[in-house]
Amino acid sequence: MASPVNPDRPAWLEGPPARCEVLPQAIHSAQRLVLLGAPGVGKGTQAALLHSRLGPCHLSTGDIFRTAGRRPESAQTPAIRQALAYMRRGELVPDSTVLELVRERRPCLHCPGGFILDGFPRTVAQAESLKKLLEDERLALTAVINYDLPAAAIVQRLAGRRTCSRCKAVYHVTERPSKVEERCDLCHGSLFQREDDRPESIRVRLEAYDRSTAPLIAFYQRLGLLVSIDAAGTAEEMYARTLGSLRATS
Ligand code: AP5
Repeated sequence: MASPVNPDRPAWLEGPPARCEVLPQAIHSAQRLVLLGAPGVGKGTQAALLHSRLGPCHLSTGDIFRTAGRRPESAQTPAIRQALAYMRRGELVPDSTVLELVRERRPCLHCPGGFILDGFPRTVAQAESLKKLLEDERLALTAVINYDLPAAAIVQRLAGRRTCSRCKAVYHVTERPSKVEERCDLCHGSLFQREDDRPESIRVRLEAYDRSTAPLIAFYQRLGLLVSIDAAGTAEEMYARTLGSLRATS
């Protein structure tokens, strides 16, 4: 099964002054989640499933950079051009750039359907800034879900990933193939391999994760928010475990 299509998220993907024209239905017990886990563990796939079945908006910082990267270079700010160069190499974008982009999108944290932060925070400094931002906005996280998988399986997931150039649905050449080769099942857009899924960038990304993002597990454990999920098995099995853990914590 392919990942379901996310509605356009102009307020998040493009930033102000763009706004979402159709807001999700307000949910009384809206989930406000952070997804943690190494690159390629399946966070984006789970975010798409959680969005389509529970309603919270998928807020991925990687998607902000990829959206900006599709604009003509003349329309990119120097900070975005620099961020895209870091991303191509598999390195983390500097905290100051990421934090500015998230702060200017703070209305998205009030999305009536809740939110799923995917790829943010990624350093302890970003986690501390998010904590302060949420306190200022009088919002609380429901849970921080940490997906865990051995490195060899992660590399296999990343190396086979294909993404739709139009609707951003995610496939895998063997595990979750599209029905027609190189075409999206949902919108028939062409599928491409992300630039940072080349072997040399994958290695750099996994090192950056171990060095900068893995310490967030202890950070959120101390705050009593961490839920650890085994990311082995199919995407549906991962989703069932995620849902079971969310129900157990609510
Ligand atoms: P980002 O876009 O956040 O990428 P990432 O964290 O590296 O995560 P991925 O999107 O690679 O993987 P995923 O876990 O979402 O896996 P997916 O569901 O696609 O960031 C990219 C870059 O932007 C960073 O390297 C950095 O440069 C920059 N950046 C972004 N945010 C930043 C921040 N806060 N600070 C600094 N820099 C930042 O799945 C992977 C594959 O596996 C797919 O093919 C999928 O079909 C398949 N798959 C999924 N689940 C399963 C399953 N259960 N079984 C088999 N296959 C599966």
